[in-house]
Amino acid sequence: MTMTVRPAAVDAKELRAGISAKYEEVALTPEKGFHFHTGTPLAAMLEYDAAMVDWLPAGTVASFAGTGNPFSMGDLEPGETVLDIGCGAGMDTLIAAKQVGPDGQVVAVDMTAAMLGKARRGAGEAGLSNISFREGLAESLPADDATIDVVISNGVVNLCPDKIRTMKEVHRVLRPGGRFQIADIVVHKEVPQGAKDDIELWSG
Ligand SMILES: C[S@@+](CC[C@H](N)C(=O)[O-])C[C@H]1O[C@@H](n2cnc3c(N)ncnc32)[C@H](O)[C@@H]1O
Repeated sequence: MTMTVRPAAVDAKELRAGISAKYEEVALTPEKGFHFHTGTPLAAMLEYDAAMVDWLPAGTVASFAGTGNPFSMGDLEPGETVLDIGCGAGMDTLIAAKQVGPDGQVVAVDMTAAMLGKARRGAGEAGLSNISFREGLAESLPADDATIDVVISNGVVNLCPDKIRTMKEVHRVLRPGGRFQIADIVVHKEVPQGAKDDIELWSG
């Protein structure tokens, strides 16, 4: 089967502003309720072990908004360097930081300042100091070439208007033999143009 992947027709800046506004709400008022699942119920639904989640700060888990479980593809090794694309409130970031331990490092990237702030606070509360938080885009990752052992991402690539560029960035930052553990949304049929042009649907 051949598939042509084109960047979305929506204005990328406008789309990112809409997405950021939505996820700022998830960071600041997670109890509000959204048309997607969040928090502890979502983590259980996505089969995160209770032991993986129980030690995390409540605020970190409350704003979790992933679409799967990147650790279902395997745990991370002590000493590894990990980059979390679209870390959100940092649930996967903190789990990764614990798994790689003090000899490892996690780079947490997000474009929404409120999410990054919440992730940073969560790391402080959890006493983790092996995380560097960087505001940035999936399409131009703030990391040097071939410096990362494992890229993780949860529920973010579906929000990126240029998915090919995002994949090229993942390839650029990974060391040879590095791993990409991604959880995301896949559709098996063509998305109608009207839906592609609707920013509300993107951010939902
Ligand atoms: C669905 S939430 C998932 C957050 C986190 N991975 C989790 O599992 O809770 C999507 C996150 O990706 C961020 N995001 C969306 N598009 C992005 C992009 N192009 N570059 C960087 N971050 C992005 C949003 O700000 C938001 O925090």
